[in-house]
Amino acid sequence: MSNNTASWGSRVGLILAMAGNAVGLGNFLRFPVQAVENGGGAFIIPYLICFLVMGIPLLFIEWSIGRYGGKFGNHSTPYILDTMAKGRVWKYIGVFGIFTNVAVICYYVYIESWTMSYVLHSVIGTFTGMSQAETAEFFNSYVSLTESTLGIPFEAVVFYIICLILNTYILSSGLKGIEKVAKIGMPMLIIFGAILAVKAFTLGDANASPEFPNANAWDGLNFLWTPQYESLLDSKVWLAAAGQVFFTLSVGMGTIHCYAAYVRSKDDIALNSVSAGFMNEFVEVVLGGAIVIPIAAGYLGLDWVINNAGFGMAFQTMPYLFQQWGQVLGAVGGVLWFGLLFFAGITSSLAMGTPWVGFMKDEFNWSQKKSAISFGVLVAIFGLPTVFFFTQGVFDEYDYWAGTISLVIFALLETIVFAWIFGINKGWNELMEGADIKITPIYKYIILIVTPLLLIWVFASNIPDIYDKITHKNIANKAYFSNEFYAEAFPNDNSENPVVAVVDSVSTD
Ligand code: PHE
Ligand code: NA
Repeated sequence: MSNNTASWGSRVGLILAMAGNAVGLGNFLRFPVQAVENGGGAFIIPYLICFLVMGIPLLFIEWSIGRYGGKFGNHSTPYILDTMAKGRVWKYIGVFGIFTNVAVICYYVYIESWTMSYVLHSVIGTFTGMSQAETAEFFNSYVSLTESTLGIPFEAVVFYIICLILNTYILSSGLKGIEKVAKIGMPMLIIFGAILAVKAFTLGDANASPEFPNANAWDGLNFLWTPQYESLLDSKVWLAAAGQVFFTLSVGMGTIHCYAAYVRSKDDIALNSVSAGFMNEFVEVVLGGAIVIPIAAGYLGLDWVINNAGFGMAFQTMPYLFQQWGQVLGAVGGVLWFGLLFFAGITSSLAMGTPWVGFMKDEFNWSQKKSAISFGVLVAIFGLPTVFFFTQGVFDEYDYWAGTISLVIFALLETIVFAWIFGINKGWNELMEGADIKITPIYKYIILIVTPLLLIWVFASNIPDIYDKITHKNIANKAYFSNEFYAEAFPNDNSENPVVAVVDSVSTD
């Protein structure tokens, strides 16, 4: 336990930092892909229901546990969970949470570093005059580390390291630094996103190219926002919706606890948690749904979007489409888009770094700076393999185990601790202490019964996939860096990509 009494500088700072934690690459890269792959309007209803009965309750649980642990001077999940329940096992569960953060950040920072380098490439006009295929090929060679347009060898590695150093540096300045980045980054992100969304809405079908005469941006929006009720019976859609709610709200990793541990003991958490959660949803469904899909549908048509929805769209297609706005506006579009992604990414990766830093401080009494440096070194060791072996699917492995499965397990355990061991009445009082809003007590029963049952169901439904993964029968997963992405990114390279090779061999059954 450290005798650190730091706390957030202001309420605005706290909300923006927590919203920055939640609002991330998931809102702009993962959400649109999940929505398209699960039928557009068919996805939205399960998604919103999961948000209300699983997302919001988990936010309540995590903020309450975090602030409670902070009262005892604990700022890392192992120590925080230790204050909730007797028995060493909870401490180990907290350690498990920390490693989930480290594993996710390893690949997350990699994407963050792409956005950084793509801002630069947009400014210097790398994409000017490139065809669609050339733009896509640029990304492929970038991540295969084969080509370097800037004349920097291993450009992707260099940007990864710059990005990691930047994260480490900000973390070493503690809460103040994080708060400052959130106060700058979040408003910028919203402004950039709003400009792009307005541009998307005004595209209409005026820009349809002769190749795609029926392309219309509104088709993309209608596809997302026309509810389809049949999907309510499709468990695959529910699972995808639950997974997206998890990832986007940053729950199930112990990250929120560590931020909440710095909330003063008498300060509100009820209204703050709801505000940060809703801010994330606004950025996700409104902004996240209003950029990639309508812009791509506006130029290439909805059919193209449905057939090509994938993570690659953001990096392989968007820079090409921006070029249709002319050289200068195209560069502006690229800076807005990749700049927005960069702000979304960094405010989230800082959050994921906090549990490790807090643990070093709690466990070894290390200084902020020393703890932050140990974080940078750790991520370099475990993260660089995702960079070097990206094309071999290491990235996907991290995302599946850490970004998809671990979250559910951790969330189930913390719900049990909060509702059943600490006790729902005590837990509810903790949430209500200093609360600036009244929350319907229905949530008490949701937390006690609905949320854990839903989590058990989500976990149980993943067991067949986990089994297949372990026995290597089927690599396809619900992660956002899906294998279709590899097929799309490396169409001629299947022999050298074991992931694609395996997927091809099982895709017939
Ligand atoms: N919520 C973030 C996103 O949407 C990802 C994240 C997960 C951040 C867990 C912190 C902790 O991209
Ligand atoms: Na998010």
